[in-house]
Amino acid sequence: MAPRKLLIDCDPGHDDILAILNCLAHPEAFEVLGYTTVCGNQLVELVTRNLCGVLTYLGVPGAVAQGYDAPMVLPPDPQPEAHGVTGLDGPSLPEPTVHPLQVHALDFLRDTLLAHDRVTVVALAPLTNLAMLLKTYPAVKDHIDCITLMGGSRGGGNILPRAEFNLYADPHAAKVVFESGVPIVMSDIEICQACATPHTWIDSLRGQGRVQDLAHDILQFFSLWGRRHGQNTSPIFDLVPVMHMLHPELFETAPVRVQIETEGRLTRGMTIVDSVDDPQTANVTLLKSCRDPAAYNRFLAENLALLNRRLFPEA
Ligand code: BDR
Ligand code: CA
Repeated sequence: MAPRKLLIDCDPGHDDILAILNCLAHPEAFEVLGYTTVCGNQLVELVTRNLCGVLTYLGVPGAVAQGYDAPMVLPPDPQPEAHGVTGLDGPSLPEPTVHPLQVHALDFLRDTLLAHDRVTVVALAPLTNLAMLLKTYPAVKDHIDCITLMGGSRGGGNILPRAEFNLYADPHAAKVVFESGVPIVMSDIEICQACATPHTWIDSLRGQGRVQDLAHDILQFFSLWGRRHGQNTSPIFDLVPVMHMLHPELFETAPVRVQIETEGRLTRGMTIVDSVDDPQTANVTLLKSCRDPAAYNRFLAENLALLNRRLFPEA
């Protein structure tokens, strides 16, 4: 079977990079057509630089197009507490030799989609780029197989008590995307927590290879935060949509209707998730539960080892 074509919209971001490493481990499953970046965890110039630094470390080429430097309506709200002042504190990355294209993400997404059919958009960040794309060039919808996104929650929150960061950061964009009619697969906070990765496993990555060393230094940033808060595991949020594409059998799904709160003073970006009697009325496929979190984390280990063997066979 031909590999699934992907466009990855991201704000790297520790977990964004883990998602990308897992995609790159499987060229038989995925063809990455390109990456677009957006203001989210940190300002867009920083997250673009982080991505280029990681691709340089790996020695992997990639088409990177920088996108919007602010949400559609609200001001940027970077999260140094969650991802550090660079947006990817922890690993030492080389001076990038991969450079962003001289084209805005909006144009890159439009041109790439129109040149291909059945592209999966992997959305790991606030949805500004994608909302602007769908609003400005609705014809691209026919070229999108689905948007598989990390965002939202069934009741919990990580930036507000009831809101998840990606949708909180640009709720107006989220509303556009969720109302666009494009099929959406949603990995929310609850499913990410169900697949959380043990800190002791993160510790054990060190010394296993160049890819595992990078993953270790990235994930250590999460695990130190988690340990400070008394946790033994940390969710690697953005990894979940990628693991779902690789191993759909791990997940139970449900059709649901999701609406976005854009105005709420205490609930900005909250997702209101309703079960539906008639699947035709659903706008989202929700990853409801993980059947085997231990297998999920085993696959993660295998993917990093696989990528290391592919990229650094001599080491
Ligand atoms: C999401 O917000 C960002 O901090 C992460 O990269 C992830 O995309 C988790 O809420
Ligand atoms: Ca992200």
